[in-house]
Amino acid sequence: MLKLGVNIDHVATVREARYRGLEHGEPDPVAAALICEEVGAHGITAHLREDRRHIQDRDVWKLREKIKTRLNLEMANAAEIVAIALKLKPEIVCLVPERRQEVTTEGGLDAAGSLQALTDTRKKMNDAGIEVSLFIAPDPAQVEAAARIGSQFIELHTGAFAEHYHQKLQRNQELERLVAAARQAHALGLKVNAGHGLNYENLPLLHTVPHLVELNIGHSIISRAITTGLSTAVKQMLGLLENYRS
Ligand code: PXP
Repeated sequence: MLKLGVNIDHVATVREARYRGLEHGEPDPVAAALICEEVGAHGITAHLREDRRHIQDRDVWKLREKIKTRLNLEMANAAEIVAIALKLKPEIVCLVPERRQEVTTEGGLDAAGSLQALTDTRKKMNDAGIEVSLFIAPDPAQVEAAARIGSQFIELHTGAFAEHYHQKLQRNQELERLVAAARQAHALGLKVNAGHGLNYENLPLLHTVPHLVELNIGHSIISRAITTGLSTAVKQMLGLLENYRS
């Protein structure tokens, strides 16, 4: 069964737009994570960025305490965040690029260009009982590098597929690259996740990619929640206005 990991970063983005610098505020990404779990999500993904743009440290600790499925911590291979992950002990970390020099031309992690640094972090995580995934483009050299690094998973970057979804020729080319990368990874003993830019429209086509274990999806789910949840939110606010007596 293909699993769903919900990325809740965008919930924190909305909170930070109003409450940056404060220790509280809505919407609460942890409350959102618990709702996702309640309806069957298989895991929760949060990206603790070095610039703390959305998810804050307190969020990941609270997630660790509250969620009952798997916590997937997305993170840069940066000393400060590595130290936090080793204490936090998520079930899995997904190493992602945050700085330009860590990025391949297709947008994923340059695993082939950082074999030693990524292997060092992979070993530290595995020694602490944490599985490791590398967010890479569907590029044979990057898949090969992921196997050499010894990560348990790769997460195939579906951004180019999603971006070209409405251009049939390019979209099919991207899909072929994803299919080939998934096959290569599977043959090398890597488990395969995928994510970035997946939505309710483009997801069905991804079913042609073999060996997928889990998809990590954020933006489209949080976006849809805004429209599907808006009527309740407005009704509740109207309810509060009803009691007004001038
Ligand atoms: N996977 C990784 C590694 C990501 O960095 C992101 C974006 O934060 C996602 C999945 C989810 O992408 P989206 O929000 O477009 O669904």
